[in-house]
Amino acid sequence: MPAAVPVIMAGTAALTAAAAEQPFVLWAEQGRLRVSYICFLSDTGRVAAFFDVRSVTAGKLFRSWTQAYKHREWSMDNFEFYRPTAYYFGTGRENETGKIVANLGRSRILVIYGGGSCVRSGLLGRVEQSLKDAGLTCMSLGGVRPNPRADLVYHLIDECRRFKADFVLAVGGGSVIDTAKAVALGAVDDGDFFDFWTSKREPKATLGTGVILTIPAAGSEGSSSAVIQKEEDGSFIKCGLTSPLNIPVFAILNPELTRTLPPYQTACGAVDMMAHVMERYFTNTPEVSITDRLCEAVMCSIVETAPRVLRDPNNYEARANLMWAGTLAHNDTCGVGREQDWATHALEHQLSALYDVAHGAGLAVMFPAWMEYTMAHNPMRFAQFASRVFGVAMDFEDPRRTARAGISALRAFFKSMGMPLNFEQIGARAEDIPQLLRMLSRAKKNVGRFVHLTPEDCEAIYKIAATTRGWCASST
Ligand code: NZQ
Ligand code: ZN
Repeated sequence: MPAAVPVIMAGTAALTAAAAEQPFVLWAEQGRLRVSYICFLSDTGRVAAFFDVRSVTAGKLFRSWTQAYKHREWSMDNFEFYRPTAYYFGTGRENETGKIVANLGRSRILVIYGGGSCVRSGLLGRVEQSLKDAGLTCMSLGGVRPNPRADLVYHLIDECRRFKADFVLAVGGGSVIDTAKAVALGAVDDGDFFDFWTSKREPKATLGTGVILTIPAAGSEGSSSAVIQKEEDGSFIKCGLTSPLNIPVFAILNPELTRTLPPYQTACGAVDMMAHVMERYFTNTPEVSITDRLCEAVMCSIVETAPRVLRDPNNYEARANLMWAGTLAHNDTCGVGREQDWATHALEHQLSALYDVAHGAGLAVMFPAWMEYTMAHNPMRFAQFASRVFGVAMDFEDPRRTARAGISALRAFFKSMGMPLNFEQIGARAEDIPQLLRMLSRAKKNVGRFVHLTPEDCEAIYKIAATTRGWCASST
């Protein structure tokens, strides 16, 4: 096929092209042409867009055509990628904390931790000793709860100033790290730190944060986000702030520190990691095969290693792979150059705020529901997910069937780890959907980019999550 000549494929040929992502297969298939699917190939011969003729409009086809061939807008997005976190990975690395912080030129360290797991395991004591051995002064304050609250952040900002801390160290998981990020921003700002979360102001400076990670899950150790919830007018707003200032200076990842995790938290963490990759994977940006493949590799590793950690908690190798997968899932290695969705996180944050459920458990309920609702937007992308991540055989006659089997496989994976699949299993109620929607509208203005969701769409997705029964409901 000559280069630089756009081609429209139709029928089974289009399906084959989209599945194989290379054009030559489809010429052999043309004899079986049936006009059900239309596929545009770019001039490099890759699948640039894929449409089901039952749902595509002439306008959409025309817009896609002009984007692709007239304006050449279909390609990897321009991006800047700056992730200055230094990672220290492996056994015993937490004993280097003092040396690492001292090398940064900091001397007064506020150490923040959660409900006490790191005290019971002896980790906190080792970290404090390491800081003291390096000649640093530290003060440790705990009490961060999962789904961290703004109230504690205000209190810790006061303590941080009183102590004259020049660095904030988080010992824990996403909730502790996000609290530390908020304290580090708030301590050098004269106003209300939560203004940054409600987009009233932009943060200008931070004390800086370091992390000793104890649970592979939220990916906050390498992310530019921090999620905090605040009670206002009798209800919670849970939302995230994304800023380069939130990126930790360093993160210490010792897989052995995760051995004390309850299996439920391990499973919640695995779901959250999958969700972070899927929020990036379901994109409208074509021609991003490098990040597609990175996403698929990370997802395959999570599907393989999380059950191994649950079966064999002393398996260091499985814990190490899962831990690094959690970081790669969310430090944007897999997300650069492509439009990202993030609707499911916004939908879930309202659930964890209202019912105080673990974020990962809420995602296990919401992600398959979102997939069912949005699948028609691009069945081929869902079929690709099914086939490459869960090994579902490609059904060329009906890619929707493949896509639905992928959603079922995802639900089955979540269920196999003891995760909930519907509202009832997390103590949520369908009657609360109007309240969830009100909370969502306060927390986030635009929901979703793969598919932009209206409030009615969000309501429909919550209803799917409320009514799903059993993991194979979507495959029928
Ligand atoms: O508080 P302790 O006693 O440490 O117990 C914690 C907590 O109960 C426990 N735990 C952690 N490490 C342990 C351990 N128990 C025994 N042994 C260990 N080694 O696990 C429980 C959950 O901790 P949490 O920090 O809440 O978990 P996770 O890392 O899943 O964080 C969830 C929070 O992160 C936010 C979520 O919304 C939620 O608020 N997220 C933050 C993101 C970010 N900053 O980039 C992105 C995520 O999408 C997410 O939204
Ligand atoms: Zn998450």
